[in-house]
Amino acid sequence: MIKKCLFPAAGYGTRFLPATKSMPKEMLPVVNKPLIQYGVEEAIDAGLTTMAIVTGRGKRAMEDHFDVNYELEHQIKGSSKEEYLEGIRSIMDKSVFSYTRQIEMKGLGHAILSGETLIGDEPFAVVLADDLCISPETDGVLAQMVGLYKQFRCSIVAVEEVPMEDTQKYGVIKGDMIRDDIFKVTEMVEKPAPEDAPSNLAIIGRYILTPDIFDILRNTKPGVGGEVQITDALMQQAKDGCVLAYKFKGRRFDCGSVAGFVEATNYCFENLYE
Ligand code: G1P
Repeated sequence: MIKKCLFPAAGYGTRFLPATKSMPKEMLPVVNKPLIQYGVEEAIDAGLTTMAIVTGRGKRAMEDHFDVNYELEHQIKGSSKEEYLEGIRSIMDKSVFSYTRQIEMKGLGHAILSGETLIGDEPFAVVLADDLCISPETDGVLAQMVGLYKQFRCSIVAVEEVPMEDTQKYGVIKGDMIRDDIFKVTEMVEKPAPEDAPSNLAIIGRYILTPDIFDILRNTKPGVGGEVQITDALMQQAKDGCVLAYKFKGRRFDCGSVAGFVEATNYCFENLYE
């Protein structure tokens, strides 16, 4: 079954400069928790136990976050402040973290391929921490997808409908509906202009991938933006076998943009913060 979750987290986060000049964008706090911690919590809720993080130069704050800080913990021991660390403590008790570095920035497909050494030959989940997903009334998005994987045993991408003018920000799919919320992918295009988009169903940053994706990625030529695109590799997988697109239940905030980040912050402050 699926035990590992890959977090491509080597990007520069230029849209948040100067905040991200010396701090990883994944460490930007949404209220009082860094973005990546929301993703890790979603993975743990889906039953995943190994967090495999593809990191890069200047991003060591992530490793320190998921580690003990003896001095700080000693200082606040016995005080009411200890409770602020309970969440992160419980994450560290429930999961193992492993890291590798993406040496060159050659796209999301390349980042995922860099993670092969941490994943090996088994199906795995991928979380793009920029997409913050909240499903207050049901299981988290990854848990929904892990459930589907048990049934279908193939790669799955999470999708949502976006306004047609936004298709160029996403990978966009077309497929045959096999349930009101599941499509068998027949077409998949990375960042199409609205007039070229096969639909308005956009891929968001949650994937379940079968390990044959690594061999496909090794042979995938750079696509849009000169980068190796996971979307192109998945299209190949869909041609050879099966890839599903799943309209997830819940809300997704685009924390890769300042506006989406502020929206997520307001939502989390009003609905989740105690
Ligand atoms: C990446 C993927 C794209 C996907 C998006 C979701 O793009 O390449 O297919 O729709 O994540 O957030 P990026 O946002 O890294 O440009």
